[in-house]
Amino acid sequence: MVKVSFPALLDGELYVPGLSAEYVAEHYGVPLGDIAKLASAENPHGASPKAVEAVELGRKRLSIYPDWTARHLRTAIAEKYGFDPDNVVCGSGETEVISMVIRAFAAPGDAVLMHYPCFPLYRIFANCEGRLPVYAPMGTDFEPLLDQYIELLRQAPRIAFLTSPHNPSGRLFEEADIRRVCEAANENTLIVLDEAYIHYSETEGGMELLREYPNLIVLRTYSKAFGLAGLRVGFGISNNPKLIDPLRRIKPTWNMGQMQITGGIAAINDDEHVQRAVKTVVEMRAYVGAQLEKQDGFRMVPGSRSNFFLTEILDPEMDSTFVFNELLKRGVIVKDGSDIEGLGSRYLRVDVNLKKHMDRFLSALAEIRKI
Ligand SMILES: Cc1ncc(COP(=O)(O)O)c(C=O)c1O
Repeated sequence: MVKVSFPALLDGELYVPGLSAEYVAEHYGVPLGDIAKLASAENPHGASPKAVEAVELGRKRLSIYPDWTARHLRTAIAEKYGFDPDNVVCGSGETEVISMVIRAFAAPGDAVLMHYPCFPLYRIFANCEGRLPVYAPMGTDFEPLLDQYIELLRQAPRIAFLTSPHNPSGRLFEEADIRRVCEAANENTLIVLDEAYIHYSETEGGMELLREYPNLIVLRTYSKAFGLAGLRVGFGISNNPKLIDPLRRIKPTWNMGQMQITGGIAAINDDEHVQRAVKTVVEMRAYVGAQLEKQDGFRMVPGSRSNFFLTEILDPEMDSTFVFNELLKRGVIVKDGSDIEGLGSRYLRVDVNLKKHMDRFLSALAEIRKI
């Protein structure tokens, strides 16, 4: 018998995704069409129709290798925001760009600064190969506490993540906050501004600041406002070629397929679809906030500028896992705060979606309150 031993670098933590509608239909007997899927921050109106049409073009080229740097897609993204195509790098989802940034700019043993809680993949990728996550605290209602963040930034981590709007609280960092962070950073620290949800804040975000700060990279995704979570397209953009060049070198070579490229080119200019999603989310965020105020036992944590919000469970008899499971029985999928490190068992993260889904969530909560 051949003896084998394959020591992995580390036993990394696995990502816990939101449950699928099919899983809940099968396990809880709720008809698929009745399920409110409110845990993956997807677009209430589905995929950009322009992208759906354009992936057909890519489908016709499936036998041919794509351009390994996705040049046409980089050009379309660069033109949209007024940058040089060489200052854009594309990834199979923004997640891939996050992983490339961590590998390219932080060596094993280096510190990576992030908020606590934050998007878990910063921590998961940082922990891979022994980088060291450093956590900046947030306030009682997840206010960003910028002074504390900047104190930790002064200890010169190699990378500092800033998520705006922040996941899971939805808090926005204003332009002045981003400037403060870029200016306070040590010359060896890369500031990564993750703007996955920026459209829902109805602000332009930090893209223009790239022209002033050579230590800044902005990351964005097609998975949210463009409705293309299944296509897997994200990008990083900087005005400093020294930040993009290493990413191109570390990138899995043909990481963008033909359909990702053609779909991505079409979607970047589908402003109509983006605006439709933003309008629904902004209206429904206000609606669900007002409705939750009428319910006792639960509270919307204030300040979300994203397409999700935190619900605090006020009743000490219930914790998030209990409410999460009771919601599943009623066909409502949310995120259990106990599964999000740094959030914990008093909170649920809930997406903003169509009114029928928000009403289903609200009436399910009212029923659970009476248990
Ligand atoms: C803050 C943040 N950044 C990035 C992503 C990943 O986006 P993508 O689907 O493009 O990998 C997410 C997804 O949930 C997110 O919450």
